[in-house]
Amino acid sequence: MTGSTPTPQDLLEIAIRVARDAAATAARMRAEGVSVAATKSTATDVVTAADRAVEQQVRDALRAVRPDDVVLGEEYGGTEAGAGGVRWIVDPIDGTVNYLYGLPYCAVSLAAEVDGEVVAGVVRNVSTAEEWTATVGGGAWRDGVRLRCSTETDLGQALVATGFGYDSGRRLHQARVIAGLIEDVRDIRRMGAAALDLCLAAEGRVDAYYEKGLAAWDLAAGGLVAAEAGLRVTGLNGEPPGPDLVIAAPPALFAPLHTRLAALDASGGP
Ligand code: IPD
Ligand code: CA
Repeated sequence: MTGSTPTPQDLLEIAIRVARDAAATAARMRAEGVSVAATKSTATDVVTAADRAVEQQVRDALRAVRPDDVVLGEEYGGTEAGAGGVRWIVDPIDGTVNYLYGLPYCAVSLAAEVDGEVVAGVVRNVSTAEEWTATVGGGAWRDGVRLRCSTETDLGQALVATGFGYDSGRRLHQARVIAGLIEDVRDIRRMGAAALDLCLAAEGRVDAYYEKGLAAWDLAAGGLVAAEAGLRVTGLNGEPPGPDLVIAAPPALFAPLHTRLAALDASGGP
């Protein structure tokens, strides 16, 4: 396929194959026992041997089939693609703390971006083998079923997922935002893997999701799945979704949730 222009479907097929093998490696390494290999931004921002091994496996597998593409990954970094080039964005294990503790909510997230636009993505739960996929314009799917987001229209009835960063100052600000939001919603969920949170929102297993501090690898695949399922996926005040804030909400919930998050300065703090 090298040299030709791949379609989103071509890229998705590669992504699915690579993500399945990667998830199998993560599951095997979990079964063999897992421990902290290093810490990153803070003492609780951990990396295991599996995070590194899985990302390396993904990089090797992609290089074997698409040697001219570039890869951005959480553990080994990466660069921008040239014009028209494909950039793969991988989080080898999203939900690393869950993985460490044996909680069944962690995933391999792999997306393909062309000219800065995510065009294909897969998120595969390492523990349950649930798999969400999307291509731009082609809808969001889980295991053969096309996904539509929640039809909830009342923020007061909405189950809202979110997450926390690893920095204690940031977490404190995020907790204050939740303290201001919790009386306006049905309840809050903090499950521990942003890519999966976005996929759950895509099928209405939560009504909406927001979080400050996401990196490209947390957002790329799950964000496409959510958008293709009908959620609005943006930042505050028309900004694109990114590190400052990601809001993923069904059209009817977007404005009231956005208004509350803006008033609570959800993109502020450290
Ligand atoms: C983290 C998880 C978590 C979210 C954090 C992310 P990691 O990713 O997605 O749910 O709240 O913002 O950093 O470290 O497990 O890959
Ligand atoms: Ca990760």
